[in-house]
Amino acid sequence: MYRNTFVKIDKSILKENVHNITQSYSEYKYFFGVVKGDAYGHGFEVINSLIEGGVNYLAVATPEEALRVRDFNKEIPVLCLEPVNTNAFSALCENDITFTVDSLQNAKELCSYEWKKTIKAHIKLDTGMNRLGFKDENQLKEALDLLKKNPKIELEGIYTHLATSGVNDIYYDLQLDNFSKLTRDIDLKSIPIVHIGRSLILVHHKKPPFVNGVRLGICMYGFSQSLPEPTGIRKIKRDFLLKHKGISESILSNDLHLHTAFSLYSEVISVKKVKKGEFVGYSAGFIANEDMNVATLAIGYFDGMDKKLGKVVINGEKCEILGEVCMDMTAVKVSDRVSCGDLAEIFGYTVSISEAARNMGVNAYKVFTGISHRVPRIYE
Ligand SMILES: Cc1ncc(COP(=O)(O)O)c(C=O)c1O
Repeated sequence: MYRNTFVKIDKSILKENVHNITQSYSEYKYFFGVVKGDAYGHGFEVINSLIEGGVNYLAVATPEEALRVRDFNKEIPVLCLEPVNTNAFSALCENDITFTVDSLQNAKELCSYEWKKTIKAHIKLDTGMNRLGFKDENQLKEALDLLKKNPKIELEGIYTHLATSGVNDIYYDLQLDNFSKLTRDIDLKSIPIVHIGRSLILVHHKKPPFVNGVRLGICMYGFSQSLPEPTGIRKIKRDFLLKHKGISESILSNDLHLHTAFSLYSEVISVKKVKKGEFVGYSAGFIANEDMNVATLAIGYFDGMDKKLGKVVINGEKCEILGEVCMDMTAVKVSDRVSCGDLAEIFGYTVSISEAARNMGVNAYKVFTGISHRVPRIYE
């Protein structure tokens, strides 16, 4: 690493998070570690820490990601959450990647392929997201019949994805209901893995009896929301939904004590004295209202830097971002104590990921995945 701009990732925190989660919810048998989007921006180098923590299956979005997992771990089962084009079939089969079957067309393609060895498949149901999955019972039945007849395809799992956390809304129960309707003629006990939940479903709802797996995403990376008892209008809404819409009661708080493992840093590469009335940066975006010291940091919007963060931390002091962020650099107002080579924390430690997300007007997912590949991840 030559340029001193980097993300620091503490793998032991991730392992501890996963350990806490898997121990706290031991009623589940299968824990899928969702590592799509480069393990939510943390990099696939964290995969083995997640496995050591207790995940026993991984889930990725694309065939490319599935194959890259194999550079880090050859044994762990990996589910590709998106249906894949036929040109990926051979490589995925060779690397023992589990396929998602999301439509009759997809089932037909899988069943007409000459597999060199048996592949595993999980059926995906659309219970309301209207994104991927079977929505039509007849098509689902036809696909299942086709898959069952094919000796090279092992139906290992069935799953759906839930749109909301289901806390005081009708959607969780609605989607569960749709799952039951779609699977009423299927003997779920004959399918080894049934998984519907993700992080917030895990923490806010009891495990439904027919489910034995859960997909862990954002919680592994440090977020498990505990919510206060609703008051005022929220309480009225909750009570109404419970009484009149029959929604299931949600669990508001948990004792997981998860932590983020991700912090972003950059280096001061220049410090200038700027006089009152002088401007700083593109478009003369900042005019000095007094004499000041201005430091340039080696991080710009190509790296994921965002003016909306407002401040960075240098030597324990919060320093205001001045003017426009450039592609590769950012100007900040600093004290006399700052000099070239000092490290600036952009966020992750003094400024939490939640605070950074709030300031940028995005969610934690976007903070984690918004740092470009130009920024090396350093692991400890
Ligand atoms: C199909 C699927 N399952 C699970 C997850 C993990 O979700 P979360 O990060 O909310 O736990 C995702 C994330 O986008 C997903 O697409």
